[in-house]
Amino acid sequence: MCGIFAVVNDKTNNAAQTVLAGLKKLEYRGYDSWGIAIKPINVSTLRVEKHIGKIGDAKTNLPKGRIAIGHTRWATHGGVTDYNAHPHLDCKGKLAVIHNGIVENYLEFKEELIKKGHKFASETDTEVIAHLIEEKIKHQNLISAVFETFNSLVGSNAIGVIDFESETIIACRNGSPLVVGVDEKNHQYFLGSDVPAFLKYTNHVHFLDDGEAVVITKQDVKLFNIKSGKEKKLVLQQLDWHLEDAEKGGFPHFLLKEIMEQKETIAKTASINEKEIEKVSNLIKQGFKTVLIGCGTASYCALAGKYFFANAGLESQTYGAYEFSPFARFSDKKTIVIAISQSGETADTLIAVRAAKKTGAKIVAVVNARGSTLERLADIVLSVGAGPEIAVVSTKAFTAQLATLYLLAKAVTDRYETGKEKIKRLGKSLKNWLDDKLRNKIINLAKSLMNQEHIYLIGKHLNYPATLEFALKIKETAYIHAEPFAAGELKHGVITLIQKNTPCFVLASNDEIKGEILSSAAELKARGGRIIGIAPFNSHEFDEVIQTPDLGDLTIFANIIVGQLLGYYLGVGRGADPDKPRNLAKSVTVK
Ligand code: F6R
Repeated sequence: MCGIFAVVNDKTNNAAQTVLAGLKKLEYRGYDSWGIAIKPINVSTLRVEKHIGKIGDAKTNLPKGRIAIGHTRWATHGGVTDYNAHPHLDCKGKLAVIHNGIVENYLEFKEELIKKGHKFASETDTEVIAHLIEEKIKHQNLISAVFETFNSLVGSNAIGVIDFESETIIACRNGSPLVVGVDEKNHQYFLGSDVPAFLKYTNHVHFLDDGEAVVITKQDVKLFNIKSGKEKKLVLQQLDWHLEDAEKGGFPHFLLKEIMEQKETIAKTASINEKEIEKVSNLIKQGFKTVLIGCGTASYCALAGKYFFANAGLESQTYGAYEFSPFARFSDKKTIVIAISQSGETADTLIAVRAAKKTGAKIVAVVNARGSTLERLADIVLSVGAGPEIAVVSTKAFTAQLATLYLLAKAVTDRYETGKEKIKRLGKSLKNWLDDKLRNKIINLAKSLMNQEHIYLIGKHLNYPATLEFALKIKETAYIHAEPFAAGELKHGVITLIQKNTPCFVLASNDEIKGEILSSAAELKARGGRIIGIAPFNSHEFDEVIQTPDLGDLTIFANIIVGQLLGYYLGVGRGADPDKPRNLAKSVTVK
């Protein structure tokens, strides 16, 4: 939800271009509008450019300069207009603010500030921050004015403030992500909501903690505690992420690149977290109750995890994190809450985790992004290592999380090594199967479904969460109504929806319930449905089939990948932007 980017000491003297390029990498965080503010060389007033719409191929003619900030917006307060786009200025145009989050108490500030004569140019909550600092700066220095302002804001927020006179950027974090990057060789400093924005320049970073601020000047970066105003030691960490991780690498879209990367990422997951998985499995063996939570795709991962655990003889519970609060009180010191999240910043997941923490429950984070809030809240972190996921729609992070839960279920029954081997074998099969032939088959299927408005899907047991995830990919990437059902639900009402030629996907594995799911397929066929099997076998119930490798209880990985590719090709065919579906943002940091 909103992307923040800034550079200080831009070595090209073209800070606006650097910021524009950085914002393009952050566009997945919000794409209603974008804006840049720069202090041009030898000019004391700042220059601002703002536009509505996606940043896409945008260019900027802003003058040269060495310090600039920019923002991509996902609108919360105030419509999608040029004047509501960030950065927002104070009355004198001396400082500019970019913001990710919601200032819940902005209206009371706004009224006071208007009474004091401040003029507002937007309907946003963000603009009050600029005017509040302007007001305070009359009586104190810039840093304490920014800190005091930030401390007075209610809500989860991250801000970046640029002061043009002193050529300083101050950034504060409480609840919304911020990371500072230091390119020591070139004395350039970067600020971003996420690392890919500046990965081209450096992988030496510090993820700000809640309550931390950085003050970036031409000379250096200083870290502060916002409440006390005291300086802290800045310790940088070097990430094992590389530039290629944030580039399309010859693919037309990040989504396709990330789908194809699963040939490596799933198997890679099997080689990490061994110690952490052991710790979690020991707790489960000691009798800890296991609760899995997440939102969207991550919630389907939780549900699939529940089946993996059940297959291993373990009872667990799952909740969409947004529905957890009525049940939080049933957690206690003997509960582990496994929170699954790509970003580690999803507000609903964090709220649920904080509620569980209050009960004394142990928190296990199954998370992909690095340095996230979820990581900090967790007692044990299973970092799934899929690398930066840039497309808004989650793919490789999901399968890496799923592999991690599978390994955990195996570890609990002392079969971790077998699990690891199976995941590695899965990786090998994907390498062979995920080829051009398969892609062409799916393109042809997509062509035949291009004008459909309704698609139905059924699955049973492990293939039930797979069906939910398959359907979500089609909904969010292609904007087609795709409704998934547990096969068992069919006869209880759903079957009324099936008419002649209604596309019905049947997800199946070569397992002991194969017969049952094929009976459901036959029922759909008898009502005239067009039955498309996604399974490691063909069957007379299917009108057509996309055959997946037979991987036992891991077949669902391949079944889901078909859904990812189908969603992608349908989306492209229907003119949607597969990397940035309408109305969505990559990390949903608001409730
Ligand atoms: C679907 C998708 C969303 C996210 C959900 C949770 O493709 O991306 O449903 O899975 O918003 O996000 P994270 O995993 O970041 O907590």
